[in-house]
Amino acid sequence: MKILGVESSCDETGLAVYDTQAGLLAHAIHSQIAMHAEYGGVVPELASRDHIRRVIPLTRSVMQQAGLTLGDLDAIAYTQGPGLAGALLVGASFANALAAALSIPSIGIHHLEGHLLSPLLATPRPEFPFIALLVSGGHTQLMRVDGVGRYELLGETVDDAAGEAFDKTAQLLGLGYPGGPALSKLADSGQAYRFKLPRPMLNSGDLDFSFSGLKTAVLTLSRKEGVEARADIAAAFQVAVVEVLAAKCIAALKQAGLRRLVVAGGVGANRALRERLDAEAAQRRFEVFYPPLELCTDNGAMIAFAGALRLSAGQPAADGRFGVRPRWALAELTCPA
Ligand code: KG4
Ligand code: ZN
Repeated sequence: MKILGVESSCDETGLAVYDTQAGLLAHAIHSQIAMHAEYGGVVPELASRDHIRRVIPLTRSVMQQAGLTLGDLDAIAYTQGPGLAGALLVGASFANALAAALSIPSIGIHHLEGHLLSPLLATPRPEFPFIALLVSGGHTQLMRVDGVGRYELLGETVDDAAGEAFDKTAQLLGLGYPGGPALSKLADSGQAYRFKLPRPMLNSGDLDFSFSGLKTAVLTLSRKEGVEARADIAAAFQVAVVEVLAAKCIAALKQAGLRRLVVAGGVGANRALRERLDAEAAQRRFEVFYPPLELCTDNGAMIAFAGALRLSAGQPAADGRFGVRPRWALAELTCPA
């Protein structure tokens, strides 16, 4: 089965073709980061309009890369939610119109399920069950994953998401938007232990997180220490986040009695986090899996892949009607068949 994936929930237009026999055949992303940068955040209306401009050229480009024509497609998967309503509608309308024109099924995918299953696109591929750490711009969750659609929420952030904390802290340090990658780069040139920032909820005894206090601590510290301490502050912030994330992953593995950890979402691209988890895994004898680096942030491949898994498992395709779900809890998902 060859399936086209369409992602448009936020500020990236992502298209991909996944083949259940041959794997990922092609994927392409257009990021709107530069367009939103001058506003310091995503402007929803601008995002929708840009998705409209990009979706058809990107589709042509992935079809060509895959060496296929539209007639070769067996199904189309699109991000149905959660995300920006207008942005989601662009992808959903495009996907459903194309599916109708080609007389093939369409399937709406939960964006976070896409992230959650994306480590299965890498080799080696983790087996179910596993613990998943989902760390993106909008979410920080620990989940037990027993199969497609079988997700149990173990803990989550009570305020900011990890990516949001990176972005807001980067902004405080004058690094622009979105600051995660820039902050991480700056941190690499700083000393992580010159300043000691709090480890929020490290000993809370549960699997929840809190990152908003850390941002305030950074603000206070950077006012006191000034701009020349920026790299050390960035490094202190990064190590604080990484330590809390790693500790809660280990606690989740212990609590569930599992030895497989999967990391997904944009912050999963963070090098310090990967190094820390790899070291813990070696020492504590568990396995850790990541999506391919370019598939950590939003992309169409994870949507095509999740669609392929659900359709292959027997989930009936949509009946031609469709709607988007800007707010949609992962816990509402069910098994495909
Ligand atoms: O998963 P994603 O692309 O979008 C959402 O669904 O939210 O994640 C984007 C988030 C942003 O907050 C971005 O700053 C963060 O992931 N991010 C990083 C890195 N790369 C992306 N944070 C820390 N270090 C990175 N290398
Ligand atoms: Zn995402």
